[in-house]
Amino acid sequence: MIQLGVVAGDGVGPEVTACGLEVLSAVGRIEDIDFQTVPFELGGERYLKTGDLLPDADIDGLRRCDAILLGAVGHPEVPPGVLEKGILLRLRFDFHQYINLRPIHLYTGVECPIKGKGPDDINMVVVRENNEDLYVGAGGFARRGTPEEVAIQTSINTRPGVERTIRFAFEQARRRASLGTFRGLSAVDRRQGFQRQVTLVAKTNVLTFAHDLWMRAFSEVSSEYPDIKSDYQHVDACCMRMITSPERFDVIVTTNMFGDIITDLGAVLQGGMGLAASGNLNPEKAAPSMFEPVHGSAPDIAGRGIANPLAAILSVAMMLDDLNLPRAAEKIRAAVRQVLLRPAPRTPDLGGHATTADVGRAVREALEA
Ligand code: NAD
Ligand code: IPM
Ligand code: MN
Repeated sequence: MIQLGVVAGDGVGPEVTACGLEVLSAVGRIEDIDFQTVPFELGGERYLKTGDLLPDADIDGLRRCDAILLGAVGHPEVPPGVLEKGILLRLRFDFHQYINLRPIHLYTGVECPIKGKGPDDINMVVVRENNEDLYVGAGGFARRGTPEEVAIQTSINTRPGVERTIRFAFEQARRRASLGTFRGLSAVDRRQGFQRQVTLVAKTNVLTFAHDLWMRAFSEVSSEYPDIKSDYQHVDACCMRMITSPERFDVIVTTNMFGDIITDLGAVLQGGMGLAASGNLNPEKAAPSMFEPVHGSAPDIAGRGIANPLAAILSVAMMLDDLNLPRAAEKIRAAVRQVLLRPAPRTPDLGGHATTADVGRAVREALEA
């Protein structure tokens, strides 16, 4: 039996998570895998009612799970940062989920906003450092609220934290060479002499302490991987090239903050926030990993039943891969692929008129067909 903690959370979180769970139970029936889901009521509503963010009983319960599925947190009536830091970042940190893996993959049938680019061009993965940098919450105010106010927010970069992330990225590049779920070299790739590559995305020209450490660690680790090309882009130029020549990227490794920003850009390359999946990984499996869409609680569309559930469904597939159930994972991706080949049903973000539930049902039916 596999026990999964479910934090549906706020806004569209519960709407898309419901579809993810429907698809999960369908694949469980087909593959004869016994998934037990345990709901955890965490998020804005509970916080507003009780003041609870992530009580010990919940964190202990989540720790006992094999993996966690999260919808989104973020509530219009709760000040920014309270739920994000108190729930989402706390889980990422406490469970040492130091890798945030964010594949950027354009499915056939989904329109790419970049003219002339197709599925062969948009196929990369971002390895985002997930436990350090500006996210650690180191900082404070002096003279708060006065005209001389000072605010400090410190980026923390440790050699072990940076190095394990870079090493994970090189391993990922090797795995992409062998795994069907990631980019296989197409005929076009071979003609163009495409080689597996890891691109470090940083800002060494300005962040001359933190990113000097990143660059030195990158150079040293890359020498252990002579089969993988190493590449460097400043983050500003990387944003430009993700638009003009996305096909040049294979594996990107980057800091927590830059990884957050470039993966929303990456989401757009793959058809929008409704399609981008992610995994917060504890690679040593010393605590559960957590899978979630890249998007947030989308308060602008919450409660209307029109959020695209595919990012949540594809996050379930990533979770199954991580639980060493690649066949179940691939069945979900194949069902998503099939649904996206058809013009309908599609939610409004993909130009359709379907509801969240319509799309979830279509994926389940494709899976069961
Ligand atoms: P967002 O990702 O929630 O929304 C950005 C835009 O994308 C919105 O226009 C939204 O309608 C659209 N969108 C998002 N998901 C969609 C889906 N499944 N289908 C169709 N359209 C979708 O980002 P935001 O508006 O900046 O943040 C809203 C709240 O969510 C904030 O409180 C933020 O802190 C939080 N947030 C949480 C997470 C998380 O829990 N993992 C991630 C990002 C943002
Ligand atoms: C994400 C989100 C989070 C992040 C926020 C909600 C803390 O934007 O998962 O991309 O910045 O990591
Ligand atoms: Mn983000």
